[in-house]
Amino acid sequence: MSGAKALSLISVIGVLLCILVCVSGFMGNGVSFRRKVTLELNPGLNLSNAAPPEFDLLHVRALGDNDTLHFFLCSKGAPAVLLVHTNSTESSVQVDWPTFGSLRVVPESSVQYSRALVFTRLWEYDDVNNTAEPQDFLPPYDLKDFIWSDLNSTVDYTLHTALLCGKDSSSSFSNVSFCLDFSAYESEGREEAWPSLLHSANSSQLRVWLEGVTPRANQSRFSLELQTVSEAGFQDRVDVQRFIDDEYTPSIFQVSQWVSSPMNSSSVRGFAQWKPIAYRKPVPMLEDATPCRNSQPIPLAQPPPSGLISAYFTHNPVTSGINISFSMAEDPFYGSTKFLSWTVLIGMGAPPSDSFSPLVIGIMAVGLCTPLALIVVGGVYVCIRKRKDQQLGYQPIN
Ligand SMILES: *[C@@H]1O[C@H](CO)[C@@H](O)[C@H](O)[C@H]1NC(C)=O
Ligand SMILES: *[C@@H]1O[C@H](CO)[C@@H](O)[C@H](O)[C@H]1NC(C)=O
Ligand SMILES: *[C@@H]1O[C@H](CO)[C@@H](O)[C@H](O)[C@H]1NC(C)=O
Ligand SMILES: *[C@@H]1O[C@H](CO)[C@@H](O)[C@H](O)[C@H]1NC(C)=O
Ligand SMILES: *[C@@H]1O[C@H](CO)[C@@H](O)[C@H](O)[C@H]1NC(C)=O
Ligand SMILES: *[C@@H]1O[C@H](CO)[C@@H](O)[C@H](O)[C@H]1NC(C)=O
Ligand SMILES: *[C@@H]1O[C@H](CO)[C@@H](O)[C@H](O)[C@H]1NC(C)=O
Ligand SMILES: *[C@@H]1O[C@H](CO)[C@@H](O)[C@H](O)[C@H]1NC(C)=O
Ligand SMILES: *[C@@H]1O[C@H](CO)[C@@H](O)[C@H](O)[C@H]1NC(C)=O
Ligand SMILES: *[C@@H]1O[C@H](CO)[C@@H](O)[C@H](O)[C@H]1NC(C)=O
Repeated sequence: MSGAKALSLISVIGVLLCILVCVSGFMGNGVSFRRKVTLELNPGLNLSNAAPPEFDLLHVRALGDNDTLHFFLCSKGAPAVLLVHTNSTESSVQVDWPTFGSLRVVPESSVQYSRALVFTRLWEYDDVNNTAEPQDFLPPYDLKDFIWSDLNSTVDYTLHTALLCGKDSSSSFSNVSFCLDFSAYESEGREEAWPSLLHSANSSQLRVWLEGVTPRANQSRFSLELQTVSEAGFQDRVDVQRFIDDEYTPSIFQVSQWVSSPMNSSSVRGFAQWKPIAYRKPVPMLEDATPCRNSQPIPLAQPPPSGLISAYFTHNPVTSGINISFSMAEDPFYGSTKFLSWTVLIGMGAPPSDSFSPLVIGIMAVGLCTPLALIVVGGVYVCIRKRKDQQLGYQPIN
């Protein structure tokens, strides 16, 4: 009798917990945080008294309730994205045109955090043994020497996107593009195209691709060198987070994040986040997926050759770099499709973290709740039987 009661009590609690898990899983974290996003090209440039510059500076203002997140995308030298977070809703941008000698976010006292990501070089190597172990590199393609397209024709002020493509007219890149497809966001969500990274209003995304290069070797593979720049007093590392769910990016169960935190502190202030996967066709499909790996960040003595970096970081910034190498042993070489795309998210604060997808929550709900429901039904049945037996005057046999 008391055993059956305890059993039914446990099952009721179990069912309640189970319902709670399912509901909280489906509801997510409620209303998502929003920012008001506006784009402007070459802020403060007065074309009536200056020739147009030979590069473009895109400024994205993402206004929050009490703060502003500024993003800059610049094509002077190596292409770069800069993020500046201020604790004011009135912070604005001052650029010293046309020389681009300085870029300030004012008032300077409102600036809480700044970090830039720069795309510096593309490394190509001949993978003679088909092991995808990067070695014996050919001379790199230096992105600072590329000729970058005009942002004016690609900025979409409504969708908050812009496309920057570069060519190196002197080499096998002549017919070719290294492109950066930039997107800023007002709220949480994910792009439909794989890898469908989860973004928030505190991040922007760059999808980069390398299209149409004539390989310089028979079995060419590529690596991309990235550098990050922040104020002195910050340190960075690459963390890997693993999941049991690959619904949003099929076959990928982890995410890599290059995070920056103040010295002597573990609080993450900014990040670059990506899934270790690249695609060998413009429309990402599972059969064209190829893994990628990153090297550990190494400190670099010189800031990268980007006009945005030299204009903004004037007080001993710290620079570090990594290489992302694409493909693995036995995967098709670059020449098979002459295309490679990879996606990275850049933002402030802690990187977004995938929660379980509705499908997985559904499976868990069915898997967890069905046995519990059976136990409850069984318990109720046993209780009723017992009561009936007692009413009929039978004594339980000990
Ligand atoms: C641009 O420069 C011209 C000439 O110096 C000046 O008359 C004009 O007011 C300026 N426009 C703005 C928006 O600053
Ligand atoms: C903004 O600041 C006000 C007052 O300083 C505070 O009450 C409010 O909670 C803040 N809002 C957010 C979203 O931080
Ligand atoms: C913004 O941050 C600075 C320090 O970085 C602080 O002195 C100032 O009071 C802050 N302003 C607001 C509105 O929180
Ligand atoms: C390729 O394999 C051969 C034989 O195993 C070895 O001698 C050679 O060093 C390898 N080359 C590279 C670039 O790994
Ligand atoms: C940008 O494009 C618009 C329309 O396409 C044009 O009116 C404007 O002059 C262009 N601005 C620059 C700086 O090229
Ligand atoms: C974005 O930043 C704001 C302001 O710092 C913060 O209140 C909010 O929680 C952040 N949202 C996410 C998703 O990180
Ligand atoms: C180069 O461009 C021409 C015309 O724009 C195109 O037909 C050709 O396929 C391109 N070649 C490569 C290697 O992309
Ligand atoms: C590519 O392979 C062919 C045949 O194996 C060879 O003759 C040629 O020299 C190789 N080219 C390069 C750039 O390695
Ligand atoms: C970090 O801690 C060390 C030793 O505790 C100290 O010497 C150093 O100044 C600290 N650095 C910062 C940026 O606080
Ligand atoms: C990237 O790889 C190349 C080739 O091995 C190397 O020279 C360069 O130093 C690497 N860069 C970083 C930041 O590790």
